[in-house]
Amino acid sequence: MSDVQQRSLEERTSKAEKEAKAIEEEINKLTSGNLSYIGDPRLDKLVSDNEKLKHRLAILENAIKAESSGTSGKTVKREPKKRPTLITDIKSIEGTICILDELKNVFEIAITSAYPDLEEPPIAITLSGNNPKFGDYQCNSAMAISQLLKSKGVKTNPREVANNILNKTPASPLIERMEVAGAGYLNIYLNKQFVEHVLTCILRYGVKPPPVKKEKAIVDFSSPNIAKEMHVGHLRSTIIGESICRLLEFLKHDVLRINHLGDWGTQFGMLIAHLQDKYPDFKTHSPPISDLQAFYKESKTRFDEDEEFKKRAYSSVVHLQSGHPDYISAWKLICEVSRQEFQKVYNRLEVKIIDRGESFYQSRMESIVKELKDKGFLEEDEGRLIMWGDAEKREGIPLTIVKSDGGFTYDTSDMATIKQRVEEEKGDRFIYVTDAGQYTHFMTIEACARRAGILKNGQKVENVVFGVVLGEDKKKFKTRSGDTVKLIDLLDEGLKRSLDKLKEKGRDKVLTPEELKLAQEAVAYGCIKYADLSHNRINDYVFSFDKMLDDKGNTAVYLLYALTRIRSIARTAQVSFENLLDELEKSGFKLTHEAEWKLGKVLLRFPEVILKVAGDLFLHSLCEYLYEISSCFTEFYDKCYCVEKDKEGKIVKIFYERLMLCEVTAKVMEKCLDILGIKTVSKM
Ligand code: ARG
Repeated sequence: MSDVQQRSLEERTSKAEKEAKAIEEEINKLTSGNLSYIGDPRLDKLVSDNEKLKHRLAILENAIKAESSGTSGKTVKREPKKRPTLITDIKSIEGTICILDELKNVFEIAITSAYPDLEEPPIAITLSGNNPKFGDYQCNSAMAISQLLKSKGVKTNPREVANNILNKTPASPLIERMEVAGAGYLNIYLNKQFVEHVLTCILRYGVKPPPVKKEKAIVDFSSPNIAKEMHVGHLRSTIIGESICRLLEFLKHDVLRINHLGDWGTQFGMLIAHLQDKYPDFKTHSPPISDLQAFYKESKTRFDEDEEFKKRAYSSVVHLQSGHPDYISAWKLICEVSRQEFQKVYNRLEVKIIDRGESFYQSRMESIVKELKDKGFLEEDEGRLIMWGDAEKREGIPLTIVKSDGGFTYDTSDMATIKQRVEEEKGDRFIYVTDAGQYTHFMTIEACARRAGILKNGQKVENVVFGVVLGEDKKKFKTRSGDTVKLIDLLDEGLKRSLDKLKEKGRDKVLTPEELKLAQEAVAYGCIKYADLSHNRINDYVFSFDKMLDDKGNTAVYLLYALTRIRSIARTAQVSFENLLDELEKSGFKLTHEAEWKLGKVLLRFPEVILKVAGDLFLHSLCEYLYEISSCFTEFYDKCYCVEKDKEGKIVKIFYERLMLCEVTAKVMEKCLDILGIKTVSKM
């Protein structure tokens, strides 16, 4: 390396260092104590830019080291990267292909053969915008590669790079043609035959998941607290968590749905003591506690006002934690009352979840405390035992592992929990669906678990956070009288409103009572779920029955109507699914009209959307996709006759291929709704 080269290397290193620092500062600025940025795409981008820069920095620093130790010049042999295997035959493709991933493979090969010397060149493939002039997908790598080459002193420009890539692109049955456009974009046009083939697969075999490496996901969601109100925050966690589980199960992952109930802790001392006083024969006669919240309040008042009672409450906790049978049965009784209340909500929303509350971890808490103590991770702090995520930096808040009175905390239970999930459950993904207020807690749990060697490389805590539910007045969601809203009452209100809506549209005159009831429930629960899921979860969201029951916007009602309309097209034409398959065998499936072609391509994006959501757990992307399908369908239906009738309304011609497209549309929409936990109805 010449002096000039050495200097340029050093200059680049210091530039990259500066860039990384600037990005880091920006990240700090963005996040400083402000939870609303979690999951913000800007932040994600900064973090990923920073990763890349750090990587570049490492390479540059190595180059300098190699130079000064005299090893440069001798070309260091790089392990040849395994090239992706490409799809070469349309027939081998199933309905589950992720176009984006396959295009990435195609362009990885193109770019590495055009620029074999570039280490990890950027492979940037995106969906083109709505303008058909830009193709269906785009490869935008040329700009970045041209920059990279320039920094190495190679004279070039993005268009030239794009042309080089284009010349090296291997043939793929997905691609019809490509062109270089504008500043160096590579527009990719999909092959119609390929699209028709995939739609045929979906028509024949249904909507199947794209193949992925099987993982075990532990999803901690809902998780209300015994003897306390299950509030709207828990409702959000329940809806989002259920949908995440459905999505991962659809992808054939092993999913453990856990209700981490708050069923342990000092509050049980006072509840048990109060139970013993109020219902001394509770073991033989089940006490009529219907309102556990009131019971909780009563015992709390006594606890605060009556010293004698307080003492008994404390000793009850000790008896409970040492497993005294009388105390255990009192505790079980109280838990059972709460559980039955929670179950009512789960039944209504058809949520499946396994109860495994904090009490499950009692003995595991004892052992984790011992382990952390023995390994020297705990420090004394005013009588407490605390643990820092980073023992040197000591930033943020440490965990309190043991309180000054010797008791355990929420932190202790989550340390025992993560250990159980890693070591006993052998999980790969650890997902916690909670309000954004718990973000710091889980990040500290993650840091401490990593420090203690519980979490291994690559394993991480995924805290799926969400914002607050607000009333229409943009203030905290409350009833008119200012009380917290009971979830069951909320669901009842939804049922009432949805029935009103159906009646307003005169549906009670057309549907049978059974059909009406099914529609009422599907609309009520569907709209509550969809309203929650269709907003970016990190934002606060305004709960409004009027908005969620509007049949014009991006709502469950609109989508459910759209779906029943699609389903009714074939029904009125009296074409059964078998008829369609017969026609498919006879004449195949062709997309002719431009609106058919557009809809077909949107339907093909299903695997891409699913895989994205399975990664970032932002379900609103799936809702946006559903809405896009239904808008595209409306456009298609406006422009293309599926059935032609004469003046008397008699069917004179049936366009079978269009009915096939209707069927595939319905299938994809149904699958999306199913993943969102929304029930569909055949009539409404
Ligand atoms: N019970 C807690 C609450 O109501 C949520 C528990 C979340 N899960 C956990 N492993 N900490 O806020």
